[in-house]
Amino acid sequence: MAGPSQHAHWSSRWTFLLAAVGSAVGLGNIWKFPYEAGEGGGGAFVLIYLAFVFIVGLPVLIAELSMGRRGQLSPIGSMAKIAKEEGRSKLWGLVGWSGVVGGFIVISFYSVVGGWVLAYLLKAPMGFAGYDAALSTQTFGAFITDPVNPIVAHFGFLLITVLIVARGVQGGLEKAVTFLMPALFVLLIGLMLYSAITADFAAALNFLFNPDWGKLNVNTVLQALGLAFFSLSLALGSIMTYGSYLTKDMNIPRSAVTIAAADSGVALLAGLAIFPIVFAYGLNPGQSVGLVFTTLPIAFGQMPGGAIIGTLFFFLLTVAAVTSAISLLEPAVSYVEERTGIDRKKVSVYIAIAAFALGTLSAWGQPGNILGTVKVFGLDFMSLKDYITNNIMMPLGGMFIALFVGWFVSRKNMMDELAMEDGTFKLWYFLVRFVCPVAIGAVFVSIIYNTIIAS
Ligand code: PFF
Repeated sequence: MAGPSQHAHWSSRWTFLLAAVGSAVGLGNIWKFPYEAGEGGGGAFVLIYLAFVFIVGLPVLIAELSMGRRGQLSPIGSMAKIAKEEGRSKLWGLVGWSGVVGGFIVISFYSVVGGWVLAYLLKAPMGFAGYDAALSTQTFGAFITDPVNPIVAHFGFLLITVLIVARGVQGGLEKAVTFLMPALFVLLIGLMLYSAITADFAAALNFLFNPDWGKLNVNTVLQALGLAFFSLSLALGSIMTYGSYLTKDMNIPRSAVTIAAADSGVALLAGLAIFPIVFAYGLNPGQSVGLVFTTLPIAFGQMPGGAIIGTLFFFLLTVAAVTSAISLLEPAVSYVEERTGIDRKKVSVYIAIAAFALGTLSAWGQPGNILGTVKVFGLDFMSLKDYITNNIMMPLGGMFIALFVGWFVSRKNMMDELAMEDGTFKLWYFLVRFVCPVAIGAVFVSIIYNTIIAS
């Protein structure tokens, strides 16, 4: 988040809420959710994702915000400090470490996709006239296989992010999220309606909500679990850092429900805008990372005023991605600042340069690009970083946060921190103590079991 220095606080409950929604709503909802739902076979994946958001993600979100607020430090500092206060091992600080490292890995590929959005923003004013399935697929393919443009776009995206962080525009962030997030929401509703009228809405509804449980396997379940964490910005320290700028009088549980509802609402709207086009034009729902870039331009090419609406869409998507990227930089920035006292502006620039360097692997690692043939464990660089963070670090990080808060922090301290009504507290405590660790643990055990059986 741009602005607050170490012990600064949000200027109001509203600012915090908007910044947290700004962190949660981003490429995870509009780019990642649709393509992973497409790859995961639709309805069953979507329903299990939503269940994970509310049954596992939401309790962890509350836990993270409360740890951040209590610790008042970076995620590493807060976890270590609270562990000490509770008479627990210093090793709990490792959960914060995993978040900071994971956040750095994510920003390195997140900003590559942010660059793709930026490139489409520059393309959009010319309109997408004549775009059909073939042309939109070919245009996207030509862009991501180009050795130069994706790197320039990646750089541009990080530059915008760092400029905002470095200028300390708390006000800028506030304005961006106050006006532009709701605008994105309204535009998505409009796009969904347009898709509903002009494309195959019935097929989309059927695909997204009619579960074919046979399409689920442990890997897709893990994917959905990770996506729930990813889209809520959990377990990477972002939300914990935002929590550290909270004052005592803010109601964490109520804010968390708003964040989770806004987050999943945007994901569903994006799905409902995209999939009618997929089915009407015979595109492949499982085409992976290009889905949003190959579908919506077809609609922009046909609708009246499509050049303007398309430009507005990619502009708002850039804003949504930048407000998330800011929150991804924040944990590492706050940690380095806390430890070294170096000015946060400088720290953000250094971290962004490192993220740029690591990100070039993901940009060039696309099929057909310079590193397109390099595979690690069968995955290209973007998928590899995504797998490590989304499918391993985030679920495990979430599990340890739930265990810490549920079993290693005293119940009384949690009750004081959260100030919830008795019944709601009991429900949350049950979820965080039992349901979250067991659900996450069960998914991992099944994966390990399957891998051993399969080998
Ligand atoms: N939640 C963001 C999105 O959905 O685009 C991405 C993200 C931000 C993930 C911050 C994790 C994080 F810590």
